[in-house]
Amino acid sequence: MRRLVAEYRLSTDDLVAPLFVKEGIDSPEPVTSMPGVSQHTVESLRKEVRALCDLGVPAVILFGIPRHKDSVGSSADSNDGIVQIALRTLRDEVGAAMVIMSDTCLDEFTDHGHCGILTASGAVDNDATLDRYASIAVAQASAGADVIAPSGMMDGQVAAIRGALDDNGFAQTPILAYAAKYASALYGPFRDAAECAPQFGDRKSYQMDPANAREALAEVDLDVAEGADMIMVKPAMSYLDVIARLRVAHDVPIAAYHVSGEYAMIKAAAANGWIDGTAVALEQLLSIKRAGADFILTYLAREVAELLN
Ligand code: PBG
Repeated sequence: MRRLVAEYRLSTDDLVAPLFVKEGIDSPEPVTSMPGVSQHTVESLRKEVRALCDLGVPAVILFGIPRHKDSVGSSADSNDGIVQIALRTLRDEVGAAMVIMSDTCLDEFTDHGHCGILTASGAVDNDATLDRYASIAVAQASAGADVIAPSGMMDGQVAAIRGALDDNGFAQTPILAYAAKYASALYGPFRDAAECAPQFGDRKSYQMDPANAREALAEVDLDVAEGADMIMVKPAMSYLDVIARLRVAHDVPIAAYHVSGEYAMIKAAAANGWIDGTAVALEQLLSIKRAGADFILTYLAREVAELLN
């Protein structure tokens, strides 16, 4: 009877696996604060994506850690940058069998760790950053990315990227906008994995205040008007109300990012024997669906796909 009347279901079709690829390492390096997650070599990444594809996971999203960082994140859009190398490898590996998304941002590539380039006084220069994002998006699409996912929360980033993609022959490449991205304390483990903690200050001048929900609607309105094909709420569990409100207000597909800290909390409590990690993972992901998300970026993707298959 419960199966007959269930309103929502979690399926492998809902999952996007976030993956890290690092330049200049010979073997995968486990991320201590995210048990089960590694910084991949290009070769171990290829194998992981093959396994996810064989499990029926529809998509991955790629983050790169370059060997060299500088003030403008030069390797983010260079043809031989680690993300572009990985994208070409994955495109070759899976063909059209999987959606390959690319996170489009600068924080992994800048020596100061901010998501944009800086003014002389050390503030993030919104408009100068837009040119960098446009160039990175074109480099990623050229290397085979199916979806461009700008995560830097600069004003106007979707319009800038849409224009650049259209001008360079990628009018068909969709944009998944990190539209309602909060300045959250739950990104800590990710910053270990992507080696991108800000070297000074914080991201509160560009990411949203957890106190605000109406502002999320405004942010999403702007991104949709600028041409976002899909929008994202991030993190997920503390912002289910935001997902639910956006579901009512918008018809575009909504993604939720179950972030590194959310994953780490489940793993840590389960390792202590304090919770049933698998049951909590499934409950949380189902709750995100119930709130109204169409798909979920989650480090749990592989183990949940193995469970559901
Ligand atoms: C920034 C970015 C971050 C995450 C995804 N993209 C970190 C940040 O804003 O500091 C966090 C994801 C997670 O915690 O799992 N490019």
